[in-house]
Amino acid sequence: MSHEAIHTVVNPLPAPLHGSASVPGDKSISHRAVLFAAMAEGTSRLSGVLDSEDVRSSIRAVSQLGAEVSLEKQPDGSLAGGITGWGSRGPKQPDGAIDCGNSGTTARLLMGVLAPWDVQAELAGDESLTRRPMRRITAPLMKMGARFLPEGRETLPLTICGSPRLRAITYDAPMASAQLKTAVLLAGVYADGTTTLNEPAPSRNHTELMLPEFGVTTTAAERTASVTGPARLTACEVRVPGDPSSAAFLVCAAVLKPDSSIQVENVSLNTARIGFTRTLERMGAEVSVRHMGAEGKEPFGLISACYTSNLHGCEVPAEKIAAIVDEVPVLALVAAHARGVTVFREVGELRVKETDRLAAIVEGLEVLGVDAWIDGNDLYVEGQPGLHTPEGALFDSKMDHRLAMTWALAGLCGTAPVQVAHFDSVKISYPRFLSDIERLAR
Ligand code: S3P
Repeated sequence: MSHEAIHTVVNPLPAPLHGSASVPGDKSISHRAVLFAAMAEGTSRLSGVLDSEDVRSSIRAVSQLGAEVSLEKQPDGSLAGGITGWGSRGPKQPDGAIDCGNSGTTARLLMGVLAPWDVQAELAGDESLTRRPMRRITAPLMKMGARFLPEGRETLPLTICGSPRLRAITYDAPMASAQLKTAVLLAGVYADGTTTLNEPAPSRNHTELMLPEFGVTTTAAERTASVTGPARLTACEVRVPGDPSSAAFLVCAAVLKPDSSIQVENVSLNTARIGFTRTLERMGAEVSVRHMGAEGKEPFGLISACYTSNLHGCEVPAEKIAAIVDEVPVLALVAAHARGVTVFREVGELRVKETDRLAAIVEGLEVLGVDAWIDGNDLYVEGQPGLHTPEGALFDSKMDHRLAMTWALAGLCGTAPVQVAHFDSVKISYPRFLSDIERLAR
């Protein structure tokens, strides 16, 4: 392992992966725990919170808005402690812009948090975040009565002007997005009447599961979620389980690296998040999950995975994409090692993630000498069993954490060292990714 200014050399793992690992707290649940605690009356107790740049963006934002945060680093690397929310006083008018960094979840959820209050807050972000579409959030919130300045602008920086007299709405979301669903439901908590969000496919449901813990009743079914306001959040205790999206990298590494056999413990087994285990199974991989219990309403347990020599391609239908939305890059890398073609249907949303992940997957697989192409919104990968890593392979992470880990895996589980540009973007969601995986291969 050697670090240069921007290129990191990643060497093949010296041994198969063996044993147990636990992954840091779930990013989506951590953001929600921090934001909901800030909205609540009283002091919430949080543990297992992910300590990463993205969650730090949410923590900084709620502090700037008047929540009292006393989270401390724990020996296992997580954050735990109290957050005293603003409750019925509402957030305070922030001094200066709120910098959401790289975090789309922070920016989009905050719009829903701020919409019901008489505040004006400018939301800003890094270069990647300022390119990402915000109209999907501003459109329903404007229907509810919030305003955004400058008018007509569709990207950050944007100033949200909240309104204490929001209207409840029923909204048919044009895409399956948990960020959009959450922003609308959070605003709906303070609107008069029932706010309903219908979605074209089921997106992750952490908000619907966590709001009742804070005393707000939600009703949820397959593709719809509602909240009836005005209601208020009261402090509670949240224990955050491990992040399945981080676990996916360890699981895929075990599937790809000969003779490996691992289990990841204490990981969220929320079905809206572990679609990747199903996709791997459909490729013939030996992966299994075991339920151990629930933190609040969030199920958690073990994911086990073994090396599989005879992977084969599969088709992932459009309605299953939301459950693997963050795992498509690493699943595409696994597909690159499988016999036959793998198709991911309707993955157009990947174009508007931290970077255009669709284009980046095709580009990165090309570096590996693997044929991948996009047809409409479908991604095709033509696998090559026995794939050899080309000497001197250089991947560009585009400063996108999930691409950085995907291309690092090509080196870790491959036959020759690779270089990954801006590997340090792993700090967004999984800062100790490399040490966790190297520990399993000792
Ligand atoms: C997230 C939802 C997903 C996901 C993102 C986190 C969330 O985004 O890609 O990493 O915490 O709600 P979309 O809502 O845009 O699908």
